[in-house]
Amino acid sequence: MKIVFCCTNTKADPWLEGFRQALPGVDIWEWQATPAGHAPKLADHAVVWSPPQSFIDEQTQLQNLFNIGAGVDALLKLNLPSSLNIVRLNDAGMSVQMAEYVCHAVIRYFREFKHYENDQPEQRWSYRKPALRSEFSVGVLGAGVLGSKVAQALQQFEFPVNVWSRSPKQLAGVQSFTGPEQLPAFLKATKVLVNLLPLTPDTENILNHANLSQLQAGAFLINVARGKHVVDQDLIDLLDQGHMAGATLDVFRVEPLPQDHAFWKHPQIVVTPHTSARTLREESVAQIAGKIKAVYAGEFIEGRVDKVRGY
Ligand code: NAP
Ligand code: GLV
Repeated sequence: MKIVFCCTNTKADPWLEGFRQALPGVDIWEWQATPAGHAPKLADHAVVWSPPQSFIDEQTQLQNLFNIGAGVDALLKLNLPSSLNIVRLNDAGMSVQMAEYVCHAVIRYFREFKHYENDQPEQRWSYRKPALRSEFSVGVLGAGVLGSKVAQALQQFEFPVNVWSRSPKQLAGVQSFTGPEQLPAFLKATKVLVNLLPLTPDTENILNHANLSQLQAGAFLINVARGKHVVDQDLIDLLDQGHMAGATLDVFRVEPLPQDHAFWKHPQIVVTPHTSARTLREESVAQIAGKIKAVYAGEFIEGRVDKVRGY
């Protein structure tokens, strides 16, 4: 079994070592572009994050691309042979991190921590009137591996929680909305909007003025999916006009977020560097190695991406 590793911005050695331990006898190496005039070494499977088109063009015998993340938008931009499967990470330690991040952000808004942080330098002992939980409903866009975990975690704090997805969901204590026809009702019911959609042609720019302006007055946005879901200027306008009260943004159209971008200094925006749910190496190696063994055993594997649907 031959596996090639091609992950941008990731140190290869610990991953290669992990796979050698998990799959004894495997021939695994880090991809380097083959010099012109030389025959490339061809693999059966690849472990990837955002590989270049030249990698796909060179590796002509691949059966599976194992993505070391949940989102596959960077892969679907490439020109891929139709026979090549894409397999995403299913959770692998990401959903609990996402639940921590989103619950922290929601609770920070609900309990108005920013005001206490502002009071401390002034040595001001000043209570805020408790907000009504029943009026602090959270809407989660996307109810897949991550969105459903986040919705269930928020529900534990007794916030009203709604989810929006393509197909109906049954999550205890959570109301399910589906499809474009139910999006307006979902948005109108939302005080805090959490985005956990995949980036596809259907979802790009979904967080635009037309949709965000349907949120309840004083709404908050928590975007932990992809930067291209948000129309940046529309968000800034709605914050400046006072219709929205704040945004916590982990992902951006261009990453790292350019130094001159208005988000950095906006008083109602919290910026974090695409860190809400990190890929954990040990969990990911174990999951991918398990899937590779299942492929050879002819068994079903979770996380096969539907390339037409886009996730
Ligand atoms: P997933 O399991 O594929 O779930 C996607 C959800 O979105 C599903 O519920 C799906 O509906 C829904 N959906 C997709 N297209 C839709 C549409 N057009 N209309 C309505 N609903 C739609 O994905 P996941 O594992 O939860 O991950 C979600 C995204 O999070 C990833 O794609 C990635 O971009 C992002 N992410 C970010 C980080 C970070 O650190 N910031 C880390 C990991 C992932 P159905 O259930 O009906 O199919
Ligand atoms: C991270 O953004 C991922 O898609 O896993």
